[in-house]
Amino acid sequence: MPSLLRTLLLLALVTFALAAPKPEKRSFKVVRVPNPNFKRTAGAGTRALVKAHRKYGVALPPGLVDAMNAAQGPTIDTATAEAVDGKAKGQGKAAASASNSASAPGSTGSTSGSINSTGAGSGKVTATPEQGDVEFLSPVIIGGQTMNMDFDSGSSDLWVFNTQLAAASQAGHTNFDVAKSTTFKMLTGSTFTISYGDGSGAAGNVGTDTVNIGGATVTSQAIELATAVSASFVQDTQSNGLVGLAFSKLNTVKPAQQKTFFDNAKDTLAMPVFTADLRKAAVGAYEFGAIDSTKFNGSLSWAAVNTTSGFWQFSSQKFQVGTGTAMNVAGGQAIADTGTTLMLVNAAVVNAYYSQVTGAVNNQTVGGVTFPCNSQLPDLSVDVGGNYMAVVRGDDINFAPVDQAGTTCFGGVQAIASNLQIYGDIMFKSQFVAFNNGNNSIGMAPHQS
Ligand SMILES: *[C@@H]1O[C@H](CO)[C@@H](O)[C@H](O)[C@H]1NC(C)=O
Ligand SMILES: *[C@@H]1O[C@H](CO)[C@@H](O)[C@H](O)[C@H]1NC(C)=O
Ligand SMILES: *[C@@H]1O[C@H](CO)[C@@H](O)[C@H](O)[C@H]1NC(C)=O
Ligand SMILES: *[C@@H]1O[C@H](CO)[C@@H](O)[C@H](O)[C@H]1NC(C)=O
Ligand SMILES: *[C@@H]1O[C@H](CO)[C@@H](O)[C@H](O)[C@H]1NC(C)=O
Repeated sequence: MPSLLRTLLLLALVTFALAAPKPEKRSFKVVRVPNPNFKRTAGAGTRALVKAHRKYGVALPPGLVDAMNAAQGPTIDTATAEAVDGKAKGQGKAAASASNSASAPGSTGSTSGSINSTGAGSGKVTATPEQGDVEFLSPVIIGGQTMNMDFDSGSSDLWVFNTQLAAASQAGHTNFDVAKSTTFKMLTGSTFTISYGDGSGAAGNVGTDTVNIGGATVTSQAIELATAVSASFVQDTQSNGLVGLAFSKLNTVKPAQQKTFFDNAKDTLAMPVFTADLRKAAVGAYEFGAIDSTKFNGSLSWAAVNTTSGFWQFSSQKFQVGTGTAMNVAGGQAIADTGTTLMLVNAAVVNAYYSQVTGAVNNQTVGGVTFPCNSQLPDLSVDVGGNYMAVVRGDDINFAPVDQAGTTCFGGVQAIASNLQIYGDIMFKSQFVAFNNGNNSIGMAPHQS
């Protein structure tokens, strides 16, 4: 995913085509499903925190570097993109590099996503949290082939595991096969290269195909076919690629930048919106084209989105711990990022929050704040656009144990030394979020429990 430091390019004119307009505009839904086989693992919190720092090009604090180096097992990748194997027609060049990115790798477990099309102007699909909510996966049909993928509102590339990859990389994955699609077309000469902050990345060539998410269809969606992927993606056999849902200006395809699925689909939708309804260790949903008001309590509060950097970015200049007094974060901005596991906030917020948690320490061993797993955590409220305080439930801020015994837990809220705060899945688990491209706004309300 593109970093904040990335030079923003003017949106290139690209050729794309939408499905023939239907008489009725549609909406569609992807449901997220919990993973019953999930076992929390020590180190997940550290990995998530490192990943988020690198995704956004923010220097790692020294304690986090030590924790990362001490971490065991399949954790942080160095970019280990494999040699490109050019068997597919019209391949481009793969050059792994790039600058940053989203979603958490390293997951294992089972996925039980399913497609559900409810017809008559709406559609729905399921989605599943993996490995203790490190990531959420949803089924996507590309050229008739169903792939479980990670929806990422913090990046703008749709890339997939596919049969061009070396056999070792394909193992355990669902691999898109262009030869089995009657609708696939190569975009000759186009390539993509995306680097995720933890050193992971993907690169390859590009084509177009029909993409169906819960019944809504784009007939000429750019599909980025990895010819090289790094180890963490290979190991995360539950996820077969990413669906970027940030603004198209962050798309990495060259020479002609491509539009995201949402950008291509929005004009055919009943409303130019998608919503994220993500639940802690439970079934949630992504819905495109409609806002399901049975999923949240009361009405949505809307905040203006600043699209300059290509993210779903809004001002966030206040916070409140529990029922305490609201405090200021001067100049605070935040982005809503479904592809980041944790919630990364201004250090003042972290300090004020954990001062209210018995036993909370800035733990050098794991590079972030930990506390006894049985601590009572207050709610954290954060300003969204000036007119709404989004309440993040204390229970959701207990992210995961850092030890096998399960006595010390890693905080779901951690510090980032950047003016841009990253509100990831920890926030989404408490708030229903609507991404509105009609007037570039973001709507939030507490989940209906
Ligand atoms: C699909 O939707 C129908 C109608 O809402 C529901 O009865 C059914 O259980 C759903 N199936 C799945 C697999 O979610
Ligand atoms: C944007 O659209 C939503 C939904 O139609 C509306 O409620 C809101 O007031 C609009 N304006 C802003 C700035 O959010
Ligand atoms: C919009 O975002 C850009 C990039 O983060 C920032 O430089 C600019 O000040 C923001 N605009 C407003 C009105 O907040
Ligand atoms: C710091 O984290 C380690 C896990 O690596 C844990 O064993 C230890 O108890 C934590 N320290 C404190 C003071 O909580
Ligand atoms: C819904 O909102 C009402 C009024 O603000 C509140 O009393 C109630 O507790 C909320 N219910 C849930 C489930 O959040």
